[in-house]
Amino acid sequence: MVRTEFGRLQEHPIVDFKRGKEVTIYLNGKPVKAYEGETVAAALYAAGVRVFSRSFRWHRPRGFFCAIGKCSACMMEVDGIPNVRTCKVYVRDGMQVRTQSGMPDAEKDVFSILDDVIDKVFPHGSHYTKFTTSKKAREFMVKRMRKFTGFGNPPKAVFQGRAELEEIETDVLVIGGGPGGMSAAINAGKYGAKVLLVDENPFLGGQLVKQTHRFFGSAKERAGTRGIKIAGILEEELNSIENVEVRRETRVFGIYNGEAGAYQRLNDDEGKLLRIKAKKIVVATGAYERTLIFENNDLPGVYGAGGVQTLMNVYGIKPGNMGLIVGSGNVGLILTYQLMQAGVNVAAIVEAMPRIGGYFVHAAKVRRLGVPIYVRHTILKAIGRKSVEGAVIAQLDDRWQPIPGTEKEIKCDFICVAVGLSPTHELLYQAGCEMKFVPELGGIVPLRTRFNETSVKGLYVAGDVAGIEEATAAIMEGRIAGIHAAVTLGYGGEEAKKELDEAVKEIEEFRAGPFGERIVCGLEKCTLESEVML
Ligand SMILES: Cc1cc2nc3c(=O)[nH]c(=O)nc-3n(C[C@H](O)[C@H](O)[C@H](O)COP(=O)(O)OP(=O)(O)OC[C@H]3O[C@@H](n4cnc5c(N)ncnc54)[C@H](O)[C@@H]3O)c2cc1C
Ligand code: FES
Repeated sequence: MVRTEFGRLQEHPIVDFKRGKEVTIYLNGKPVKAYEGETVAAALYAAGVRVFSRSFRWHRPRGFFCAIGKCSACMMEVDGIPNVRTCKVYVRDGMQVRTQSGMPDAEKDVFSILDDVIDKVFPHGSHYTKFTTSKKAREFMVKRMRKFTGFGNPPKAVFQGRAELEEIETDVLVIGGGPGGMSAAINAGKYGAKVLLVDENPFLGGQLVKQTHRFFGSAKERAGTRGIKIAGILEEELNSIENVEVRRETRVFGIYNGEAGAYQRLNDDEGKLLRIKAKKIVVATGAYERTLIFENNDLPGVYGAGGVQTLMNVYGIKPGNMGLIVGSGNVGLILTYQLMQAGVNVAAIVEAMPRIGGYFVHAAKVRRLGVPIYVRHTILKAIGRKSVEGAVIAQLDDRWQPIPGTEKEIKCDFICVAVGLSPTHELLYQAGCEMKFVPELGGIVPLRTRFNETSVKGLYVAGDVAGIEEATAAIMEGRIAGIHAAVTLGYGGEEAKKELDEAVKEIEEFRAGPFGERIVCGLEKCTLESEVML
């Protein structure tokens, strides 16, 4: 049985939510109850706040979307600093949070009524340039326009000092503490390499921390175990290796010829810069959630599937009462099941393909729960003014066009977009890796050898950043990258070389089944000759 306190789940069949101390934060001066360990976005959501800001130009309400710091939909002013991604900042007692733009605030925003007439008054695209002919007119208007639009106000006090700089030398730097990164660190570390693993979050596990279901995939890589448990097992392994250091809340912002620049948060007021010299670097930064184009797809209440999982399975907060899921891959199916487990209803799953995308076992579970799955259907629009109140779906023809007359209105208060992920590849681009668009791997990926070394020597990839697959494959890729990095630095001897050989064979076997066909086809397009022959 699921019990809730306002928006918070009190009991859950799988997760035991251990909330921190109760604190009070202030939204536009009004007190909001929160618990230590919750992000600002999560606490506001639990209190029923849906509109966090207004859009730059059209006064459109904005809420959160991804909940993992990758989309910027949740930006607010926090303690005087504008444009803070509130899904990444943790509450503290007395914190002052303000909505951005909107008069008197983002929730009410009286100027939103202009949206309906503004196009007529200022024809599309002209209202920024209208007042540039005269300096005086421009200055006058800019001041006023800032009240209508913009990205918050500049902070009143600007930090004047210099952040402390720490210089670090290591054999292997691993960026990202999801399954791919943890596996790379374990496998490089166990053969004696000095490893530093950094992750921007205060916890390790990446996407695993929100996966309450038992894993599919390889029996050897813990199929049948819950994702959250796998994260714990990997972390324990990591902690047992002395020469592996882990730094949490540490974000790498650039890779420059074998050196990485990072910022480590120490506490609410302090942080330091890290200059990390590493002989080898493994990038395991995961992926972004994709969205879909449909009318009102930016309304608060339209969320990424992972965003809803974070809210519900990490922070124990109900995303709503009735959801609509777009996409019937494994993520969409599993999420549906998890929502129902948490006492949230799902009106339907919509799938554009002629058949369900995920595994039969997940689809069967969802069907048994009575959730209709509309294949060959898509979402046409989200209904609602400030947040989602419903959706319109329609059937598709053979050319993927909606068939007039088949529109159906679905009552729901949130919509989960579960249409896949794209690799988080910015660091790889910036480091100069050769990149290629490979649709089978989910987007732009680096060229790499079968040992996962990119075209930049000594720079490896593992997990979703190398191509969207699953956690099992991420763990296997991390193992290959970690051992190869250690071996080429002279660690591990024959034993390590033998294990590397086995690991490469194992992943090839894992991908040999029907579900691996697409990946193998993608890999053929981006695999480099291996330069280092062992
Ligand atoms: C709903 C759902 C169900 C799933 N079910 C399964 C399943 O049953 N079986 C399965 O095998 N897979 C499953 N997966 C897929 C699996 O979770 C992912 O493929 C896997 O987590 C990818 O691992 P990763 O290490 O590449 O990335 P992630 O787990 O995304 O970890 C990347 C980490 O890097 C950090 N990071 C990013 N950039 C930086 C930076 N610049 N500096 C520091 N840190 C950074 C991120 O914060 C994150 O912690 C599922 C996924 C979802 C969303
Ligand atoms: S960055 Fe916060 S919701 Fe995406």
